[in-house]
Amino acid sequence: MTPVATMEKQELLSVHDLIADQDLTAHDVRLIFDLAGRMKASPASYSQALAGKQLAMIFEKPSLRTRVTFEVGMTSMGGHAIYLDHSKPRLGERESIKDVARNLDRWVDGIVARTFAHQAVVELAENASIPVVNALTDLLHPCQALGDFFTLQEKFGKLKGLTVAFIGDGNNVCHSLMLTGAKLGATVRVATPSGFEPKTEIVEQAAAMAHVNGAKIELFREPLEAVAGVQAVYTDVWASMGQEFAAHLRTQVFAPYQVTDNLMRAAGPETIFLHCLPAHRGQEVTDAVIDSSRSLVYDQAENRLHVQKALLLLLMQSH
Ligand code: CP
Ligand code: NVA
Repeated sequence: MTPVATMEKQELLSVHDLIADQDLTAHDVRLIFDLAGRMKASPASYSQALAGKQLAMIFEKPSLRTRVTFEVGMTSMGGHAIYLDHSKPRLGERESIKDVARNLDRWVDGIVARTFAHQAVVELAENASIPVVNALTDLLHPCQALGDFFTLQEKFGKLKGLTVAFIGDGNNVCHSLMLTGAKLGATVRVATPSGFEPKTEIVEQAAAMAHVNGAKIELFREPLEAVAGVQAVYTDVWASMGQEFAAHLRTQVFAPYQVTDNLMRAAGPETIFLHCLPAHRGQEVTDAVIDSSRSLVYDQAENRLHVQKALLLLLMQSH
């Protein structure tokens, strides 16, 4: 398959940007997964797919996986990525977000942004004619959910009818897991301590989508109840980036939510373990679980590369 042939035949996404999981239709996700699968199998066929294209990557928060996979993804398709450290000053402090977007619009072909405020990524997209991709905000992490469900599909050969249990904090990763899972017909259970539930508005949106797709969104207090019979147990850090000040208190509140061998045994003999990473080993997950043969965490990390390459190509090829 030549890149030209691939691009000629390639159907485009229904969206211009990826700001929130809800932006993509189930069909869009299928297009991304199909292309990601072909790219994973034959990366050399796409080595010039984004030749000459430039990507600006704005990061207010640290990153290993997201930064490296977007940069490697662009380079491996013949393009180039520019890292913009916005940890200090944050986006919008040196000049308005509108002006940042309007300047970048004149030089580059796409923007990836990791910000604290979700509204900052919304504002970038509102003021740019080029595609904007959410690389994590306090609210959502849609690229992560794409990598996660691509990994689940690889493992189980389907997504409809699967059940994933997210254990811990009802955070950005949990929100995207619910929204993307619901869209794809996977049931997502969430077990959190009181006061750390996912946002009601997101739960309601996900539940409505899940209902249409023959799946459910279910909230639990007890991890043991949430994991019974599920295909995958998922966890994330107890204090997300920006919440470090509350990390000590959270280690006490979340202690009963640690993913241990005992919890994995209660889930079932075939249940796999997922984590977006970075992991705080010994907190939300034990070494024994994350290093076990049930753990697919590095497959998830690898698949971020493939799904994001597909996403970039689908969004940027027409710009
Ligand atoms: N999972 C994830 O987004 O990792 P980084 O924070 O290292 O990018
Ligand atoms: N919930 C975590 C995810 C990191 C990829 C955070 O926001 O820090």
